[in-house]
Amino acid sequence: MGFIPSEIESYAEAFSTPEPLLLKKLNRDTHAKVLRPRMLSGHLQGSLLAFISRLSKPRRILEVGTYTGYSAICLAWGLNEDGLLHTIDHNPELEDFARKYISDAGLKDKVVQHIGEAIEVIPTLDEIFDLVFIDADKENYVNYFEMIYPRLRKGGIVLADNALWGGKVVAKPEENDAETRGIIAFNEHIQRHSGVRNLLLPFRDGLMIAEKL
Ligand SMILES: C[S@@+](CC[C@H](N)C(=O)[O-])C[C@H]1O[C@@H](n2cnc3c(N)ncnc32)[C@H](O)[C@@H]1O
Repeated sequence: MGFIPSEIESYAEAFSTPEPLLLKKLNRDTHAKVLRPRMLSGHLQGSLLAFISRLSKPRRILEVGTYTGYSAICLAWGLNEDGLLHTIDHNPELEDFARKYISDAGLKDKVVQHIGEAIEVIPTLDEIFDLVFIDADKENYVNYFEMIYPRLRKGGIVLADNALWGGKVVAKPEENDAETRGIIAFNEHIQRHSGVRNLLLPFRDGLMIAEKL
């Protein structure tokens, strides 16, 4: 998923620290057993998430959209010693799959999986977050951001995946294309927001990075 020609992506992977074996296995297993495996972050994006997390040493991370646990594991690797990552997904069929890999990564005490609609789960989490990764239904990105912003510490970072949405953001969206409309509304919302410093990184499918001022 993304705009970089696959040859260039392979080159970038060849000159990046190799994907850890556990993530390679999770990646393969997801492709073999789970629907829509392209949703998984993958090696380059996972490495970027892990870098950002390690640099910001978060105490509390929130992830919206666990899927099979790839990005949760990458992000949790940067948690500080008493850190915790909350991750939400509304698909109960993925829960055990993700749990197994989170546990194999040695992170079972660091990651709390929540099954349910993110819009209902987020208000139940009594935390102030240092780092947030939004990677679920595009129609709700603005809603997620608005719910999360008051619980983000100053200097905290929100990352949102698919901010370029396969390039569809630059054309007028179809009336019934709620996902593209959701992403465009989110990007415009962030750009107008006076409480963040933001960067739309044209990496993979686009990563919006917003820091709370
Ligand atoms: C793109 S995948 C997440 C990929 C994962 N973050 C990764 O990088 O490996 C999106 C996930 O969001 C979940 N999801 C979609 N809508 C949701 C909602 N309203 N509430 C909670 N989870 C939702 C889907 O079930 C899916 O597993």
